Amino acid sequence: MHCTHRSYPDLGTLSRAAAEFIAHAAEEDVRERGRFSLVLSGGDTPRTLFRLLAAPPWSARMPWARTHVFWGDERCVPPESVESNYHHAHELLLARVPVPKGNIHRIRAEQGGEAAAAAYQGELEDFFLSSGGKRGYFPVFDCMLLGVGGDGHIASLFPGSRSLDENVRWVIPATAPEGIIPRERITLTLPVIDRAKRLLFLVSGAGKRDILRGAFFESPRTGSGWPVTRVNPRGECVFATDFVL
Ligand code: 6PG
Repeated sequence: MHCTHRSYPDLGTLSRAAAEFIAHAAEEDVRERGRFSLVLSGGDTPRTLFRLLAAPPWSARMPWARTHVFWGDERCVPPESVESNYHHAHELLLARVPVPKGNIHRIRAEQGGEAAAAAYQGELEDFFLSSGGKRGYFPVFDCMLLGVGGDGHIASLFPGSRSLDENVRWVIPATAPEGIIPRERITLTLPVIDRAKRLLFLVSGAGKRDILRGAFFESPRTGSGWPVTRVNPRGECVFATDFVL
């Protein structure tokens, strides 16, 4: 895996570094291409980052009018549910910054399964093909945030799931293992994750150290089968952790 590991003393410092990484990327892409596509991750770890991006200095630096916001995965619950990844991003960030409503590309996961996946893929095709891409290709997001679960999952791609082998569709329904709720989800697929221009993993908690070691030192073939070890980044890839490997 061709990724850089950056270790920080705590989640606050990690989140400030992530805010700086995102603001710099956004300024660069808007200057060069007039827009910036940012994929938010779910779970708890990015919430400190969301608060930072909603406040100076980063809120003033971000080119919100030219920033388009997406999600890497979503739970099949209403957007106002506390289980919704959109809900936390909206409360902590999107409701507090001048990002145009048309730039917020929410996964309508409450529609459930195939309907929600097809709708989100259609929205992505409109966004990317409108930029001159051609059918039968995969989108390239400018910056994608990802977390890593305690079982090595990324987005909603879980260990042993056939979802990990999807190599045509950009978006698919997924089911979390027993014990991880909500179980029904919508997720981007590995080919889309791999092609992000910049992948930024935010990983907090030394309990995930062994998984990260696996990601860095195992080969995807002989490794543990953790989904994070299956990522094959085509662009820049950074793992930011609040622990040392
Ligand atoms: C989700 C996330 C998921 C998350 C990891 C890490 O919908 O749950 O997208 O992939 O990023 O489970 O979550 P924490 O940051 O809470 O550890």
